[in-house]
Amino acid sequence: MAQERHWTLGDIPWHEIRPEHIAGSDELFYMVATASFIETTSDLYTRNLVRHFAGDPEVSHWLEHGWEPEELQHGAALREYVRHAWPDFDWQAQYAAFLADYGRTCKPENLLPERSLEMVSRCVVEMGTSCYYTALHHASNEPVLAQLTRHIYEDEVGHYKHFYKYYQFYREQENVSRKQVLGALWHRLKMIEDEDTYIALRHVYAWHRPGKRYDKAVYRKVVKRCRKLVSRYFPHHMSARMLLKPLEMTPVAQRVVEPVVEGMTKLVMF
Ligand SMILES: [Fe+2]
Ligand SMILES: [Fe+2]
Repeated sequence: MAQERHWTLGDIPWHEIRPEHIAGSDELFYMVATASFIETTSDLYTRNLVRHFAGDPEVSHWLEHGWEPEELQHGAALREYVRHAWPDFDWQAQYAAFLADYGRTCKPENLLPERSLEMVSRCVVEMGTSCYYTALHHASNEPVLAQLTRHIYEDEVGHYKHFYKYYQFYREQENVSRKQVLGALWHRLKMIEDEDTYIALRHVYAWHRPGKRYDKAVYRKVVKRCRKLVSRYFPHHMSARMLLKPLEMTPVAQRVVEPVVEGMTKLVMF
């Protein structure tokens, strides 16, 4: 069977964006603009990850030729959306300021030394993005944003599946315990809303609210407003399943633990 063609920016009907559906939504602006910044910096992550997985040609090849181009495409497409929907936003200038700030925190030493556990960590990140864009897709009543976020969340689910497959391979090699996997899951889950979103929002907010103070309190307030907009669309069940998958529990145990984890993701994420 022929492989399905991956979507491109040319598939998105940019001219059909209905600004009246997003006008006045500062929250959508914050969410789409910060996501465009973070996705656009994926090349920094790829470099770190490729170095981390040196000597594994399959993983390196996929990171450089599968994962990175798709993440960069997410950044480019979200940027294009911002350009059409909020034409006054000076994307380039604000992104340059963000990058200068962000480059200092994205270092190789943030990766976990065991390859299997770093793959678990990547699964948590891809779970987070899959669920974020799923929620944004359902929350958006602007049809072009809904279409774009559907393409993106489908890609993110694909990334999760790749990282999960590689996790399984390295788990066999490294023989890590369930306790270690749980530790890696928890460690990354706590970081899910960390420096990158905080820094990205700083530079989006600086343009939107010039001269206004920006700190953790302001950040939390803005995040709370954004959550309010999308929280009822957040796929908690899907996030719990994706989180628990690397623990490879028995179906009975999974049924017991799933609602607990669902509750936790409500607290931690949305
Ligand atoms: Fe992405
Ligand atoms: Fe991804």
